[in-house]
Amino acid sequence: MKFVRVCQNRTCKKQGSVKVLAAFKANLVPEVTVTGSSCLGKCGKGPIVLILPEMVWYSKVHPSEVNQVVEQHLLGGKRVEQMLYHRFDS
Ligand code: FES
Repeated sequence: MKFVRVCQNRTCKKQGSVKVLAAFKANLVPEVTVTGSSCLGKCGKGPIVLILPEMVWYSKVHPSEVNQVVEQHLLGGKRVEQMLYHRFDS
């Protein structure tokens, strides 16, 4: 079982996280639970997505990229390297 948390707090919402959550909900896969979340503590790099239990963070997620996370990570078990959260990104 995996969990996808999509931050729905103020800063991420301004950056489009409502659509990101909707995109995950439109692409539901078995054994994966998708929920909105309160602030995940990485504001400004949003929309922030956290995959549990692996604790993999994605930042600046665009709705059009959700499909890739679903296919490659949730179904394929392989992180989408170029979308991973990096603390010191510009
Ligand atoms: S508002 Fe999304 S991480 Fe803080």
